[in-house]
Amino acid sequence: MNDAQPSDPETNNPAPENAITGDLYDYPAYYDLVYGSDWKAEFDFLQACFQKHGPLTNRGPARAQDIFEPACGTGRLLFRLGKAGFRVSGLDLNPKMVDYCNRRLHRHDLPQTCVVGDMTDFQLAKPVDAAFNMINSFRHLTSETLAAAHLDCVARTLRKGGLYVLGLHLTPGVGEPVEYESWSARRGHLAVVSTLQTTSRDLSHREERFGMSFDVYTPTRHFRLENEVVFRTYSVAQFTQLIERIRDLEIVETYDFAYDIDSPILLDDSTEDVVFVLRKRF
Ligand SMILES: C[S@@+](CC[C@H](N)C(=O)[O-])C[C@H]1O[C@@H](n2cnc3c(N)ncnc32)[C@H](O)[C@@H]1O
Repeated sequence: MNDAQPSDPETNNPAPENAITGDLYDYPAYYDLVYGSDWKAEFDFLQACFQKHGPLTNRGPARAQDIFEPACGTGRLLFRLGKAGFRVSGLDLNPKMVDYCNRRLHRHDLPQTCVVGDMTDFQLAKPVDAAFNMINSFRHLTSETLAAAHLDCVARTLRKGGLYVLGLHLTPGVGEPVEYESWSARRGHLAVVSTLQTTSRDLSHREERFGMSFDVYTPTRHFRLENEVVFRTYSVAQFTQLIERIRDLEIVETYDFAYDIDSPILLDDSTEDVVFVLRKRF
């Protein structure tokens, strides 16, 4: 399978040094090449999580059937869960991501169930058994009001006993947080190197800024796409206090990005990567 369908950077008026400033999420094919290859551990973990933690019904555990991903991006996990037999749907703010995700679902004979929408203000036609949001997309919500609005929307979307699996990086209170990360991937003649570098961290305003770039290599060209990403910061206490404000959700378990269902973690001041398993109360 080859999902890479790079947009033509020529039409985006590249700067003299071949650096194009813009929203990297407008380039789903490049995003997916780098991040889409990393899916197996999350895919296995999500299914194990649905089995171990719910969804629960009044009559005990049930098999998850309807799965929803807010901020689904290219649907790198969604379409695989669809192929595994779940009814999947997604939502994303970026129409290019939504289009990419729907075309991908269609190619795999699945209904095109991804819609353009804001994860702080949405309502689904039918409730779902589980939702997930694996790598920091939640941190795009830059205020407590937006974060709470999102969690309230998810809670309304879930059936009672349903799960929300939410992965994010916390800011540790001890030790130094990771400030630079780089990933690369190649498919055919296209290679993309992605970097994420912290440029500022203002813990009093709960704001972290990153320079994010894709270096794109084809046989004849090399150009760089770059932009700034702003994330809200969370300490362990700030996140758990936020969840306590959401009447219908409770934390049932915590894991880290090793995605080992047999190894839940205990949170402390040094915790950085964490996957919260939240459940809608009965
Ligand atoms: C890091 S990507 C993650 C995509 C996908 N969840 C994954 O795991 O590959 C973040 C996505 O969040 C989307 N996004 C950011 N703010 C959003 C909002 N308020 N509502 C919906 N989607 C949003 C972006 O358009 C982007 O596709």
